Amino acid sequence: MARSIRTIWFPIFVLLLVETGRGVKSASNYLIGLGSYDITGPAADVNMMGYANTEQTASGVHFRLRARAFIVAEPKGNRVVFVNLDACMASQLVTIKVLERLKTRYGDLYTENNVAISGIHTHAGPGGYLQYVVYIVTSLGFVRQSFDALVDGIEQTIIQAHNNLRPGSIYVNKGELIDAGVNRSPSAYLNNPATERSKYKYDVDKDMTLLKFVDDEWGPIGSFNWFATHGTSMSRTNSLISGDNKGAAARFMEDWFDHNSSGSISSDLYMSSKIHRRVSNIIPVIEDNHHELLELAASFESSSGKSTTRYSSLARRVRSALRQTDRPKFVSAFCQSNCGDVSPNVLGAFCLDTGLPCDFNHSTCGGKNELCYGRGPGYPDEFESTRIIGERQFRKAVELFDGASEKLNGKIDYRYTSVDFSELNVTIPKEGGGTNVVKTCPAAMGFAFAAGTTDGPGAFDFKQGDDKGNAFWRLVRDLLKNPGKEQVDCQHPKPILLDTGEMKLPYDWAPSVLPVQILRIGQLVILSVPGEFTTMAGRRLRDAVKKVLTSASTKEFGSNVHIVIAGLTNTYSQYVTTFEEYDMQRYEGASTLYGPHTLTGYIQEFKKLASALVSGKTVESGPPLPNLLDKQISLLTPVVMDATPIGVKFGDVSSDVAKNSTFKKGDNVTVVFWSACPRNDLMTEGTFALVEILKGKDSWVPAYDDDDFCLRFIWSRPAKLSTRSHATIKWLIPQTAASGVYRIRHFGAAKSLLGSIKHFTGSSSAFVVA
Ligand SMILES: *[C@@H]1O[C@H](CO)[C@@H](O)[C@H](O)[C@H]1NC(C)=O
Ligand SMILES: *[C@@H]1O[C@H](CO)[C@@H](O)[C@H](O)[C@H]1NC(C)=O
Ligand SMILES: *[C@@H]1O[C@H](CO)[C@@H](O)[C@H](O)[C@H]1NC(C)=O
Ligand SMILES: *[C@@H]1O[C@H](CO)[C@@H](O)[C@H](O)[C@H]1NC(C)=O
Ligand SMILES: *[C@@H]1O[C@H](CO)[C@@H](O)[C@H](O)[C@H]1NC(C)=O
Repeated sequence: MARSIRTIWFPIFVLLLVETGRGVKSASNYLIGLGSYDITGPAADVNMMGYANTEQTASGVHFRLRARAFIVAEPKGNRVVFVNLDACMASQLVTIKVLERLKTRYGDLYTENNVAISGIHTHAGPGGYLQYVVYIVTSLGFVRQSFDALVDGIEQTIIQAHNNLRPGSIYVNKGELIDAGVNRSPSAYLNNPATERSKYKYDVDKDMTLLKFVDDEWGPIGSFNWFATHGTSMSRTNSLISGDNKGAAARFMEDWFDHNSSGSISSDLYMSSKIHRRVSNIIPVIEDNHHELLELAASFESSSGKSTTRYSSLARRVRSALRQTDRPKFVSAFCQSNCGDVSPNVLGAFCLDTGLPCDFNHSTCGGKNELCYGRGPGYPDEFESTRIIGERQFRKAVELFDGASEKLNGKIDYRYTSVDFSELNVTIPKEGGGTNVVKTCPAAMGFAFAAGTTDGPGAFDFKQGDDKGNAFWRLVRDLLKNPGKEQVDCQHPKPILLDTGEMKLPYDWAPSVLPVQILRIGQLVILSVPGEFTTMAGRRLRDAVKKVLTSASTKEFGSNVHIVIAGLTNTYSQYVTTFEEYDMQRYEGASTLYGPHTLTGYIQEFKKLASALVSGKTVESGPPLPNLLDKQISLLTPVVMDATPIGVKFGDVSSDVAKNSTFKKGDNVTVVFWSACPRNDLMTEGTFALVEILKGKDSWVPAYDDDDFCLRFIWSRPAKLSTRSHATIKWLIPQTAASGVYRIRHFGAAKSLLGSIKHFTGSSSAFVVA
């Protein structure tokens, strides 16, 4: 009797499981939606964010920047949003503005509580979008165009993710990636207690944690992962906009997915073989008759013309041709974690003059920091280093993606508050028992900040009494303040270079109120931190939160909880080191704003959020985050006008390919056009540069655009105030390019003296790739 019941009921039970597994009623099922939008921003004249190098202004595009987002929702319950920006960091002002837009659009669905906006820490994106004085000195103040590109792009990516919400599952996987980061301040790390260090094999975190999103109907639709390594593969002298190693990894992975029909990872350097496949599918095979190709090519001369429509729509066709339009676009994001002391320049730091390793304790060469540079694996080619560190992360992510089998199950939840870190009481254990209350301090930066790091030695001109520096610096320099005794003591042993927390003119120099946030998706917990935690600081924070979440008093979490730190999220407040690392006052310690107890303060506040999360209690909201938009000063001059010499039109070729040229795969093709300032039209979701291939006898098909690793758009002016400019487009012909007849096109927009914007285009003569 018992047996027969089992045989009847067992299959029904299984059926029910399968049914609930498809999102009918189970708590283990979510609605998931992904989005992605162009946030490249102004590709000229704007200072790049990261190295604080006044000389480093954008002048072209290596590849485009994107905002990628996921939303996970319980069908009738909570939801969380995570946005990953190909930007140096999140900005408080951007976050505030995005939340305003979301409120207008969706009411209370998306608020500061459940939206996290995080930056990958590329040092090759346009700056000027942060609101505190220190972060916009080198960009000549606030840059509205950078700011708008971010706010608009984030809003668009969230709208996409929201509209894409459909039943699906999420899988988590974790693995070690060994060769994509090294500790750049090992002497500070070594000051952490030996007993603590002995618990870890490495002096940086090697774990990558990946989420795989699987739509019930379409299958895999994307992945997000967290891994700690700086976005400093591109150097402090690079001027092409680039997502650095994480942006590259994301581009590689999305392209990989789109052409994964063979299941193998392309060995091609530029990962563009899917375009090749598409192109070779739509182009009738031209017999490989070199003579015939040359004759065909000879009939297409260089040309230029005005366009009535925005040519960016053409470029959109390149990428959209690469994917099935009837399914959601595959989105893959590579997010930042506790990268504070982690450099992607894995070969180590060497002196430019002697070629010997820099001084271990001070990262100097003969006592000077200016000559000590970290070397990436592609040294001396920074594009190669970016590609290699990007590819290592990409390959690990694919492995984790293919192997992901642990499904996220359980509640979606979140806790958020804001904390004034300039005067936080922090309770610490006293030696011999009991507790002490210590305080954090108003923000201040130490002298070692000016020295920079081995990823970008400082030539920072924020020094008191310094007569140099740019116009913005001259404007604010006289507002510097000498710290009082209380501040000096509080920040000890940091020697204060800039007392930013106590400088409020013309408006705040540094943040004091910071957001802290926990997002929970089942057994995955994301800690949104508004800064760059070092390796050990991150470990301490994760361990402290884990202890609270898995404490015996609660059944909410089993022992299986995955905790990731999302670095540079929601706002930015520089570095967070451990107390012991702070003592060493290397760059990271000098940039830990709120004094030696900054990390302990964070741990205290995150433990409160974690307790509230497990107990189901709410947390008190903290002080409001300041919105300083109305106070911003902008000194970057707008584009006055563009012009060409007499007899030359915008888009005319100024240096063409040689007549009757034949190129081999692996060659470079370079064409120079008369151009205009890229700030006139950012070509958002479009392109400044296009490689086209001839289809049949007279129709051209897009093959590569400025989002491809193999195509570089380099913009230049002969002199700073010149109205004339050139666009140099350089195509590094991939091994996977199809043989055929090609041409290179440029798209731009020119501004007249009266301010009207006219779009133009130009194309090179045709050439053969054989
Ligand atoms: C890639 O291809 C392999 C083999 O065809 C397949 O098993 C795998 O699921 C594919 N990966 C993705 C992301 O589609
Ligand atoms: C270019 O090559 C074609 C085919 O070989 C030839 O017919 C033509 O004369 C060449 N033109 C020039 C300008 O060399
Ligand atoms: C670094 O500094 C520590 C502590 O001052 C010292 O013991 C050590 O020898 C130094 N290391 C090197 C390589 O100079
Ligand atoms: C911090 O502690 C001091 C006493 O040490 C107390 O006066 C003050 O109110 C506390 N501040 C907060 C915000 O709790
Ligand atoms: C093409 O250009 C790249 C980047 O500037 C350079 O590294 C490479 O050596 C060039 N290749 C050839 C064949 O000239």
